[in-house]
Amino acid sequence: MKIQIINGPNLNLLGKREPEIYGNENFETYFENLKKRFPSVELHYFQSNVEGEIVSKLQEIGFSFDGIVLNAASYTHTSIAIHDAIGAIKTPVVEVHISNVYAREEFRHKSIITANCKGLITGFGLESYAMALGYLVSRSS
Ligand code: DQA
Repeated sequence: MKIQIINGPNLNLLGKREPEIYGNENFETYFENLKKRFPSVELHYFQSNVEGEIVSKLQEIGFSFDGIVLNAASYTHTSIAIHDAIGAIKTPVVEVHISNVYAREEFRHKSIITANCKGLITGFGLESYAMALGYLVSRSS
């Protein structure tokens, strides 16, 4: 099975960015760890700081992949375009966040994209991605 992980803006700085919130590990290292833990999955990774590139990636793989794990980062709270792209595709999307967005500033409490996602995992650090993958693997086996 094929699963795409998509990370939004500033997540290329994981490991350097506010480590007290997002931890010390960069995503590339964690991604290698995920590939070992989910050997049956063909895992793909894409990161962009640009809203339209995230929309294009969702469109590109959203009719052929078995699942998408999406951390839209700050676009979670603002992007009608990403909300609409998730609604337009067939592949199920799981929304993830590293931090617990509900324990943070009020502007992070509203997600524009959750309504079009299968569900939401927030606050488990990088393990939020593994939890989303666990769900996507179990639903297609
Ligand atoms: C985040 C939470 C967002 O509010 C924030 O803008 C991010 C990261 C998270 O993974 O905790 O960039 O999506």
